[in-house]
Amino acid sequence: MKITLKHVLATALMAVGLSTYAAPIVIKYSHVVADATPKGQAALKFKEFAEKKLPGKVVVEVFPNSQLFGDGKEMEALLLGDVQIIAPSLSKFSKYTKKLQVFDLPFLFDDIQAVDRFQSSKEGQALLSSMKGKGIVGLGYLHNGMKELSANKPLGNPADAKGLKFRIQPSDVIEAQFKAVGANPQKLAFSEVYQALQSGVVDGQENTWSNIYSQKFHEVQGYIMDSNHGVIDYMVVANGKWWEGLPKDIQKGLSEAMTESIKVGNKIAFDESEAFKAKVIADKKAKVLPVGKESLAAWRAAMKPVWKEFEADIGLDLIQAAQKANK
Ligand code: LMR
Repeated sequence: MKITLKHVLATALMAVGLSTYAAPIVIKYSHVVADATPKGQAALKFKEFAEKKLPGKVVVEVFPNSQLFGDGKEMEALLLGDVQIIAPSLSKFSKYTKKLQVFDLPFLFDDIQAVDRFQSSKEGQALLSSMKGKGIVGLGYLHNGMKELSANKPLGNPADAKGLKFRIQPSDVIEAQFKAVGANPQKLAFSEVYQALQSGVVDGQENTWSNIYSQKFHEVQGYIMDSNHGVIDYMVVANGKWWEGLPKDIQKGLSEAMTESIKVGNKIAFDESEAFKAKVIADKKAKVLPVGKESLAAWRAAMKPVWKEFEADIGLDLIQAAQKANK
């Protein structure tokens, strides 16, 4: 057989095509919390489900605990394609959309069930595509839980927070929330919180029971108030260009794996928040204090002006839709 240049080229192209086809797609999923949290478990389940659904076609690498990127860098890494999936807290998206700030409004949601109802509503679902124009696609919401205030002194009343330094997530709403009670909020990456509390760079913080326990914040805080004054939940997001460029069968399999992994994470969030709280109490390092009705009303009144401050950015319609989710 006469071997022509055409033959050689065709064979070479086939080889390239075959090897491209055969190589699994590597998906890096990076996050900042411990494996033993709702997000940590959901990420591991996503790996398990995706690799089972798409054997040989995808490999998922999970990087917990800010190992690969801390929360100051992970969004940038997503946009650059250095990581394909991340799940930042809803308080970390304001550079890309002002709408998600609704989740940071203090005392907006009565409980995590109300948050769930809002996320499932038409308005909540629409927010998943609110960053499409910025190259970020929302694959789903994932729960962590309601957040609690902690400090090196009891915070029975808003006046107790006056002058204290609080670590906050990078959210202008949360910043305004602490300013409203005369405190000094400081935006810090999650991976730096323990050290900042231990060394006294800050006096307090706010977080969920699973984060408080798994990061040992209770070991470096004197008091934790059972305040449930807000929520820390996540949006699992992908690089939009990468996601849209995936072969349809792969995209479908990954979507299903994501939905199933979120279900597992949410179940942990719903079922185990109390267990994490019990572990914090059992450790006897920090005092866990209830917040009485009157005291809660005082906190609510002190922080409520923040709603008006951000109403134009967020949209009154969206705030009202969120309020409707309370029963
Ligand atoms: C925080 O920064 O406190 C949280 O957003 C961390 C997380 O991802 O739960």
